[in-house]
Amino acid sequence: MSDTAEKIITTTPLADLIDARLSRRSALKGLLAAGAATVAAPAAFAATRNTDPSSLPFEQAPHNVEMFHQVSPGHRADVLLRWGDKVAADAPAFDPFNLTAEAQEKQFGYNNDFVAFLPLPRGSKNSTHGLLAVNHEYTNPELMFTGLTALNAASRMTREQADVEIAAHGHTIIEIKKGANGWEPVQGSKYNRRISARSTVMQVNGPAAGHDRLKTKADPSGRRVIGTLNNCAGGVTPWGTVLIAEENFNMYFGGDPAKTSEAANHKRLGIKGKSRYSWSRFHERFDVEKNPNEPNRFGWIVEIDPYDPQSTPIKRTTLGRFKHEAATCVVAPDGRVVVYSGDDEAFEYIYRFVTAKKFVPNNPAANRDLLDEGTLSVAKFDDKGTLRWLPLVFGQGPLTQANGFHSQADVLIDTRRAADLLGATPMDRPEDVETNPVNGRVYVMLTNNNTRKAEQISKLHPRATNLYGHIVELLPPATEGSDGARGAMHTADEYRWEVLLLAGDPSNPEHGAKYHPDTQKLGNWLAAPDNCTFDNRGRLWITTDQGSSQRKSGIPDGVYACDVNGAGRALTKFFYACPKDAEMCGPAFTPDNKTLFVAVQHPGEYKDSTFDDPSTRWPDFNFKGKTPPRPSVVAITREDGGVIGN
Ligand code: FEO
Ligand code: CA
Ligand code: CA
Ligand code: CA
Repeated sequence: MSDTAEKIITTTPLADLIDARLSRRSALKGLLAAGAATVAAPAAFAATRNTDPSSLPFEQAPHNVEMFHQVSPGHRADVLLRWGDKVAADAPAFDPFNLTAEAQEKQFGYNNDFVAFLPLPRGSKNSTHGLLAVNHEYTNPELMFTGLTALNAASRMTREQADVEIAAHGHTIIEIKKGANGWEPVQGSKYNRRISARSTVMQVNGPAAGHDRLKTKADPSGRRVIGTLNNCAGGVTPWGTVLIAEENFNMYFGGDPAKTSEAANHKRLGIKGKSRYSWSRFHERFDVEKNPNEPNRFGWIVEIDPYDPQSTPIKRTTLGRFKHEAATCVVAPDGRVVVYSGDDEAFEYIYRFVTAKKFVPNNPAANRDLLDEGTLSVAKFDDKGTLRWLPLVFGQGPLTQANGFHSQADVLIDTRRAADLLGATPMDRPEDVETNPVNGRVYVMLTNNNTRKAEQISKLHPRATNLYGHIVELLPPATEGSDGARGAMHTADEYRWEVLLLAGDPSNPEHGAKYHPDTQKLGNWLAAPDNCTFDNRGRLWITTDQGSSQRKSGIPDGVYACDVNGAGRALTKFFYACPKDAEMCGPAFTPDNKTLFVAVQHPGEYKDSTFDDPSTRWPDFNFKGKTPPRPSVVAITREDGGVIGN
């Protein structure tokens, strides 16, 4: 370890760290000033401004890949939380050369994905003080530890390193405040909490709780699970809890699934017996031959009460088990709560859950277990523009003993197989599904699917080898005499659907892209839509994840925004660029829309990029080129303090 690096990392006083943060901001401004020249020249911009049909007037960020991040001129992008930053009051300072699981469990985890801003006090619209709830999806051992590569990490890692990884998974809740210097974490807050895959005890609720297929040697009750895995996106409930989605939980399990009682189930979920993680070498619970039921305890939606640091997270099995990307909640006109979730894998499905009971406003206790009763359905689309929601209910249709389902628990544990039997529509990797607070439509990010064949195309999936992805709108029917979000019947059996845009480069006919006709002239093209959110005017903010394809496309991942109604519909503009080899996650606005939080996930993730020689060291260039890149949450504000996008 270098002395200089060690001194900077472990002994820098708080004031110097603040200086370092400020200098990062200044450096950023300098880069922006340089970068601005590469965006539309002011004269050209002025010439087109009068004819721009978009309602989004911001000047676009440079649409090129750099080692650093870049934001629309006139905005600040401040790094708020980095991997290893203190969360618990007694967390040690980050030392990337001496990571321990004990320290990691008190520090901000790896690969931040979903971000939710929850105002303080609970139930308020406070936009300068609140809790940030952040998912930590997975780990990149080749970027966390010296001497490893992406290819050899699983076989070479030590138990101590594996335990750091397990501790770096999960979730963080941290109190944050906006002051004169921008947003800062509140050190020592009673709310600050790390939830990890290593030690946080979770309760299982709903029909699959206590089922034999959830029981293991360590948990004969089938109701008590240690931790949560691969928390990708999520959602916030109307009663102020957070839902986090367990996505690619299959990656962590070793052993041969074919030798187990759950062989078909494990195969359908992609448990292959050859894990890219080392964990099964050190912990029996990740070896399916020794614990064939352990994977059945993951792949659920987990509910956490961020306002109660003593609360036990609950896995809500009513919402089904698959590779949940997100869990977006909306209250239907009749008061029932609807949760949408995509299953992110090529040819998987979109799901909807509707609670049996109604939401009771201003009474969190009354809604505590609302998600334990209700109906899960899966989407079936036709080429005439109709979407039908097919209920996944034991005993109905093919979901009977004849097909191996003996209870609703079986239907939920084997959600994918149940949906197959109902004839659900295979999609091009459904990532985020989000409801528009203004027009009431539901937006589905279909990130890509390079395995769709020509004979598998339809109006919903019009491109074979869909490399760039697309965005689909679901249109719930409106209640009589009401339109927009208020009247949108998210509980209806039948919706209509439309395609908003086909991503890709509109100047390249081979891409088959489709946007607003002025996108090439006034906007910027995107690839691989992944997460999204809406501002208060109902405009769509899209974040992208091209993976290593960004090396080919030449465009960065980041944040794009577009109108979904009016003359600017589907005219996408580029707002924020991730640093190299990162994907963009977690867009979340404060209620006043003056701050947009985004999560830069896996900066520097590329086949030959390692801790020792990463493709970027963002965001810590001030650490003399010795530290690895650090996944970080960034707070974006306007320099004049105004509303973003106005
Ligand atoms: Fe974790 Fe589907 O992205
Ligand atoms: Ca995602
Ligand atoms: Ca979202
Ligand atoms: Ca993705």
